[in-house]
Amino acid sequence: MEKYIVPGLPTPYFVVDESFLIKNLEILKSVCDRAGCKILLAQKAFSMYRTYPLISRYLYGTTASGLHEARLGKEEFPGETHVFSPAYREDEFEELLTYADHFVFNSPRQVEKFGMRAKKAGKQIGLRINPQCSTQEGHEIYDPCADGSRLGTTLANFDPKQVEILDGLHFHTLCEQNSDDLETTVIEFEKKFGKYLHSMKWLNLGGGHHITRKDYDIEKLINIVKGLKKKYNVEVYLEPGEAVVLNAGFLVTSVMETFNNVIDVAIVDTSAACHMPDVIEMPYRPPLYNSGESGEKKYTYRLGGPTCLAGDVIGDYSFDEPLKEGDKLIFEDMALYTMVKTNTFNGMKLPSIVYRKKDGSFELVRSFTYEDFKSRL
Ligand SMILES: Cc1ncc(COP(=O)(O)O)c(C=O)c1O
Repeated sequence: MEKYIVPGLPTPYFVVDESFLIKNLEILKSVCDRAGCKILLAQKAFSMYRTYPLISRYLYGTTASGLHEARLGKEEFPGETHVFSPAYREDEFEELLTYADHFVFNSPRQVEKFGMRAKKAGKQIGLRINPQCSTQEGHEIYDPCADGSRLGTTLANFDPKQVEILDGLHFHTLCEQNSDDLETTVIEFEKKFGKYLHSMKWLNLGGGHHITRKDYDIEKLINIVKGLKKKYNVEVYLEPGEAVVLNAGFLVTSVMETFNNVIDVAIVDTSAACHMPDVIEMPYRPPLYNSGESGEKKYTYRLGGPTCLAGDVIGDYSFDEPLKEGDKLIFEDMALYTMVKTNTFNGMKLPSIVYRKKDGSFELVRSFTYEDFKSRL
């Protein structure tokens, strides 16, 4: 793991490892080939476009959450560009038409407002469905099927008259889930919307499929996709973000100081709040190389960042040796929902971005300065 320490480069920095990326991409490509589906990269999870030439050799295109991601996908990723937004902006729509090939709308009203304009521009249009089938527990902010959700059209709000202009249907309901939850959702979706699927060209099953995770049941996914294709004669799209870069990135940080305040504390030069906000938002405990759970190894520390936020805490980790100033710590699984979510709260410097090639060489893709902070304010 020490191989991710870049000699001479100040911490913190993200390192994305090409070999691990390729490993994931090969799994995804084999799913495409075996199931006969099309997989898109959900850029909201990972937009390090330096890797797009590689990813585009395996995946079919990108999906975007709005204008800027759609433009990035169009500019940097050969293949189809899809976009979904809960509500499109009038003042952006014409420009968006120049980037995206597929438009997914959130509601019948959005279809009414923008659908025909997209069709006339030669685009495919779809509607996001809310099948009202929650399959996850604990992470309510990641459940688009919860009561009161603004994401997707429920059966009660569906307008069958629009079926004739729609090219496809879309649902996104999963988050880090296995194919058994997809199966449950498909059954519910078919009960409510199956009859409309016969007149569609495609069905998009969204993201949240943890396909590249060790225990993911790929055979079940392939059977579901094949079954849908056969029954409804539709193309099937998947748009995972996490699965594309799962375990393919690292965040290297240095210990700045240690002290005791009831427990041992270490300040590191990366911030949960600024550099891995999902740690606080989700919340979760990022894996840290060569460490154990609190109390598992001899020396336990609470690791926190250098911002003013009392809750800028990454977690409690234990080590075989006491931490000392200058020690390098390597957080794992740091490619997804990190670089795209960093911020400069407290004027914090953003971590540099490094690409580690298959041959072991490093490419410094980007480093950041005061201007990146100032220019946004
Ligand atoms: C519509 C849509 N598609 C795809 C994704 C990607 O999901 P994941 O990164 O969990 O695979 C998301 C994530 O929020 C999403 O909202």
